[in-house]
Parts: sequence; structure tokens; C-alpha cells
Amino acid sequence: TSDPVVLMKQEVGKAAAQRVKSDSIVGLGTGSTTAYAIQYIGERIQSGELKNIVGVPTSFQAEVLARKYGVPLTTLDVIDHMDLAIDGADEVDPQKNLIKGGGAAHTREKIVDSLADQFIVVVDGGKLVDHLGSTFLLPVEVIPMAVSPVIKAIEKLGGKPELRMGVKKAGPVVTDQGNLVIDVKFDKIEDPANLEKTLNNIPGVLENGLFVGVADIILVGEIIEGKPVVR
Ligand code: A5P
Repeated sequence: TSDPVVLMKQEVGKAAAQRVKSDSIVGLGTGSTTAYAIQYIGERIQSGELKNIVGVPTSFQAEVLARKYGVPLTTLDVIDHMDLAIDGADEVDPQKNLIKGGGAAHTREKIVDSLADQFIVVVDGGKLVDHLGSTFLLPVEVIPMAVSPVIKAIEKLGGKPELRMGVKKAGPVVTDQGNLVIDVKFDKIEDPANLEKTLNNIPGVLENGLFVGVADIILVGEIIEGKPVVR
């Protein structure tokens, strides 16, 4: 491919995959950027450069990619720690707080990413914002029978919620766990730590896409003079 955006995502994914060391348990994130990290981790395993790697997938998508590229998988039940997690994001603020869930996978992503000793985020420069919520709606995973009361509770908090609908599917998006997603517009998220707790306290909410104090390293891909660069 010669598409600069694809080349940039590949470079960021590769840069993250290069940080994986042998004898590691690695959280495998979701999205088009992390997909390249999973691919390169697999290639490093197949070439013999990386040994004794197991991955913990954050979604059905991550699981399928790990199998495709030969990354052995495990579950949280049989491990006692996780060395590293690599995952994408939809927005990143200057404090390294994130909005995630554009792929409706934020619940499992938060479980896995927050367990890792080191969490590396892979994004393109367009994801960097001054304030969370400025460009992206905040995803909230909800148990289906609670959608109406959760929508009302979110409106009371000042948010504008909408049920996420499928693109090539009639009806709403269904998560890997069989739940629904409400995307919420907040004018400005002033206190992400507080909003994260408030939303998760609404009965019927499983998890929201605010990741506060979870990310350690942000790898940012940019196109400079037509070439992909990672910083
Ligand atoms: C999945 O639920 C999200 O949190 C993704 O990590 C996010 O949407 C990033 O995806 P891209 O790398 O495709 O932008």
C-alpha cells in the first residue's frame, strides 16, 4: 500500500511490537492500529526472534488476528500478572487520559489494559486533544433491558446520549458480551475521573470509555513530508 495513513498505522503498530520482550504476557488491543502490532508480534514469534509470548485478547477481533498471525493466547484465569498491553484510542489528552470504545470493545480493553505493568497506546496525531470529549462521543456499554433508564440518567447529567446503531446491520450494535452501546456527547469533560465513576454508578451501566490514569506511554504516528514518523 502507498496510503500514508495506512503506512503510519503500520509504523506505530511496529514500534509498539518492537517493545515486546521474550517471556512476556501481552494484552492485545482492538482497532485498526493495534491490528498491525498484533501482526508484527506474530511475525517476530514466527521468525524466532521472540520466545515464550502469550497474549490476552481484548475482543473477538483481537482473538481472530492473534490466531491468524500465530500469537498464542491465554485467559486472565491462569495468569498472575501481565507485562505489557498495546491498544489504540479514540482521544488522548495531555495527561494521557483516553476515550476508548469506538470499536465497542472498551469494557474488555479496560480490564486487560489496566492489569498490565505497562500500557502502550498507539494512535495517529489526529487523536490528540486538549480536552476529552471535544471530537469523539463517549461510549457507554449498557445491559439491554436498562437502555431507557440509563439514557434518562445520562440526560440528567447533562449528556446527549444516542444508542449506537449498526452500519451493515439492522438495529443496534451488539458488543462481544451481548450488550448495547450508548454514545454520549458532553460539551466538555472537565473532570474525567469523576465522570468515569459517576457513569459507572448508574444501574445497568457495565463500563464507559474513559480511561483515567491507565496509559503509560503514547506512541503517536504522524506524516511528515509524506513519510510516516513515530514519536
Ligand atoms: C475499540 O473499542 C477502541 O477503543 C479502539 O481502541 C479505538 O477505536 C482505536 O481504533 P483505531 O486504531 O482503528 O483508530
